[in-house]
Amino acid sequence: MTSGFHGVVAAGDRRGRLLGFPTANLAITAGEPPADGVYSCWVTLDGETAPRGGTVSIGANPTFDDVSDRRVEVHIHDFGGDLYGRSVAVEIVRLLRENTRLGGVGELTRKSAEDVRRSRAILSRLLVA
Ligand SMILES: Cc1cc2nc3c(=O)[nH]c(=O)nc-3n(C[C@H](O)[C@H](O)[C@H](O)COP(=O)(O)O)c2cc1C
Repeated sequence: MTSGFHGVVAAGDRRGRLLGFPTANLAITAGEPPADGVYSCWVTLDGETAPRGGTVSIGANPTFDDVSDRRVEVHIHDFGGDLYGRSVAVEIVRLLRENTRLGGVGELTRKSAEDVRRSRAILSRLLVA
């Protein structure tokens, strides 16, 4: 399965940084994100050619009652810069799990850490294959 889409980084609720996993909220400009879920992915930033590894969450953030719209939020591994307004291309690699309502911020942080660990392992295996 390959699925690709493009987006521009828009403002989110700014919770991601507090959770330890800053995410870029994407306004989709081309292509179609896959069904709700958490996926490993490659992310290419505008002006760059080499893709970076990432983990993307697609869904209405069911843990938080104040989110009603479907979000596409990508955490780019080992990236600390400001992405606001940048264009990014996302290539989906693998579904990690469903996007679910979790018990709160603590569980979300633990799950996200596990997701990112699994995502890194999957992507690094592809690089040596
Ligand atoms: C790896 C990863 C996994 C996530 N999994 C879930 C999830 O299972 N349930 C959920 O409600 N939100 C999930 N999210 C989304 C978070 O709720 C969201 O990133 C956080 O609230 C920050 O949102 P903000 O950038 O709009 O502030 C996940 C985010 C990431 C990066």
